[in-house]
Amino acid sequence: MTGTPGVGKSTVARQLASGLPGLHVDVNDVVAAEKLIIGADEARKTQIADIPRAARRIMEIVAETSGYVIIDGHYASELVEAKDLFMAFILRRDPVELQLILRKRGYDPSKVSENVASEILDVCLVDALQAYGKDKVCEIDCSSKDSTTIVEEIGSILNKRKKCRVGIVDWLTKLETEGTLDSLLASKP
Ligand SMILES: Nc1ncnc2c1ncn2[C@@H]1O[C@H](COP(=O)(O)OP(=O)(O)O)[C@@H](O)[C@H]1O
Ligand SMILES: [Mg+2]
Repeated sequence: MTGTPGVGKSTVARQLASGLPGLHVDVNDVVAAEKLIIGADEARKTQIADIPRAARRIMEIVAETSGYVIIDGHYASELVEAKDLFMAFILRRDPVELQLILRKRGYDPSKVSENVASEILDVCLVDALQAYGKDKVCEIDCSSKDSTTIVEEIGSILNKRKKCRVGIVDWLTKLETEGTLDSLLASKP
């Protein structure tokens, strides 16, 4: 389960895992708890994950688990190899909604606009497509939907009642039409 920070991955992954049932693995939690980091990113006031170690640790957890494992992280595509993946869900959210969520989270303006820009530019989708190709990649538009609706939509795809698709959102065109693109990309509060 991947997508820009703030789209709702952890909320949805937790709920999906309890319903399946399955194990929810939050990559950020594992990396922080086990200090799988290579240093600090001073500009972003964050830590840089040690991707090879994080990937090994995640796969250890998968190997120890008999049921479903939901790996939740915005760089999950860098941690799970195509051969080990059942399906990748890329959660998407209207950048206007995402901006509000990230501001509420207390992110500083530059971090808000960096993440909003990532969402507009489909960064997590492109990462997943590069890692897995389009057959195993499903995009879910979470905008204005509650988590139960989103979990049901994922369930329908897993049950093959609904088609798995990519290319379902086009934020650039939507925001340009609304006239909100420039203000979303500005880092002013
Ligand atoms: N479907 C939703 N609709 C509205 N707000 C949501 C939804 N899912 C999560 N949120 C809220 O958005 C914020 C980010 O959610 P979270 O699950 O932590 O996202 P992520 O793991 O992708 O960073 C939280 O405050 C959460 O309560
Ligand atoms: Mg999260």
